[in-house]
Amino acid sequence: MVDVLLGLQWGDEGKGKIVDFFAPGYDIIARFQGGPNAGHTLYVNDKKIVLHQIPSGIFHENTINLIGNGVVLDAVTLRKECDSVAAFGVDYRKNLYISERTHLIVPTHRALDKASELSKGNEKIGSTLKGIGPAYMDKTGRNGLRVGDLLDKNFTSQYIKLRLKHQRLLDSMNFHEDITAWEEEFFEALEFLRGFKIVNGEYFINDKISKGMNVLAEGAQGSMLDVDFGTFPFVTSSNTISAGVCTGLGIAPQKIKDVIGVTKAYCTRVGSGPFPTELHDDTGELIRKIGSEFGATTGRPRRCGWIDLVALNFACMVNGVTKLVMTKADVLDSFNELSVCTSYNVNGKSSKEVPFQMNRLPIVPELKQFPGWNSDITAIRSEDSLPVAMKEYIRFINEYLGVSVAYISNGPGREQLIAVK
Ligand code: GDP
Ligand code: IMO
Ligand code: MG
Repeated sequence: MVDVLLGLQWGDEGKGKIVDFFAPGYDIIARFQGGPNAGHTLYVNDKKIVLHQIPSGIFHENTINLIGNGVVLDAVTLRKECDSVAAFGVDYRKNLYISERTHLIVPTHRALDKASELSKGNEKIGSTLKGIGPAYMDKTGRNGLRVGDLLDKNFTSQYIKLRLKHQRLLDSMNFHEDITAWEEEFFEALEFLRGFKIVNGEYFINDKISKGMNVLAEGAQGSMLDVDFGTFPFVTSSNTISAGVCTGLGIAPQKIKDVIGVTKAYCTRVGSGPFPTELHDDTGELIRKIGSEFGATTGRPRRCGWIDLVALNFACMVNGVTKLVMTKADVLDSFNELSVCTSYNVNGKSSKEVPFQMNRLPIVPELKQFPGWNSDITAIRSEDSLPVAMKEYIRFINEYLGVSVAYISNGPGREQLIAVK
């Protein structure tokens, strides 16, 4: 059986914390897309750690962690991450497996990412500059190198061919950067990568499923950053939605049971692109401050706004969400009034649908106001103790989306998660 856990907004919903919490209920945690653009924050023994490519089940001794074929892998970042999990006493060689079909991010992918952003002028995506877009372009363009290629004696010549192709592209974009140091680090990291359990991911995972093991597929980014259904072109380059699990792990759709969608109690976005409920005022600033809304990967300030039910409803539809987890509810503790976006108004017309190209439309969010709960909820451990105003806020969201919040997260700690009926 397979469950999926993914973000329903523009990323950073708190997926890492929630996966870490649910991990003991699963045998395998598997990443199915994205790469080092992700930053998943966990607290282990009250110490913070940010994971980029290693699945968030790594701190559980008996959990298998798989980096699936849908991921684009940066060996240099992986090596650094392995060092940081080892500092927690984790034997990463024991429980971390990598699919041989996983594509590699090479140093010139990162250079191409930079060059592409520079060439866009005011239309920058605000990418994390980790080489994600160029690596996926080489995958779909049928030029990329995969982890399994490392075991081929022709790997270096394949690499040189690809590098030459990239160099011509970089020259044509008039982008020059000395990548000698990157490359050195890259080749060292490839040696490190060769020491992992490199497996045929699809047989590996299907064999375990047929033996009755349970899998949790861990999404990166968020549904509104999906390359097909997000706010294109301001998206990432992978399918972040539940359908990505099938292609990103080699799992058939009928094996998927629950799709657990994670949303903040409000909304954030990092990087450029449309964000209808964004607050450019003191309230937005206050949410950023209280919620410590700064990127886990790039440190950039996150844009903040009210929860957007139009976008969330769309995300629930394309993912087939069966359960919701609402995170960072505590961040709203001190607000007298909260707003919820229930529709978009475009040129005087109200709609509950996400339009084709949001960035070209003057979207005015139509907001419904709710009284805040005005109390500290961070120490609450049971549903019965939740403030009435908060229950009302959540009841409205459940009704609007037709899916219910099953857990409320009221702080970054492992123990700060309340099950609700
Ligand atoms: P992810 O990419 O979805 O895993 O999320 P990030 O780790 O990028 O960002 C979520 C941030 O919120 C991290 O700093 C978490 O430690 C923190 N966090 C997660 N859940 C909660 C919560 O319920 N309340 C508060 N205050 N912080 C939370
Ligand atoms: P997690 O898994 C938030 C955003 C970038 C940029 C766009 C494209 O931590 O939720 P890319 O580097 O993927 O080409 O950038 O996507 N982005 C994220 N935003 N959380 C993430 O991951 C993100 N990964 C990419 O800021 O706007
Ligand atoms: Mg993140």
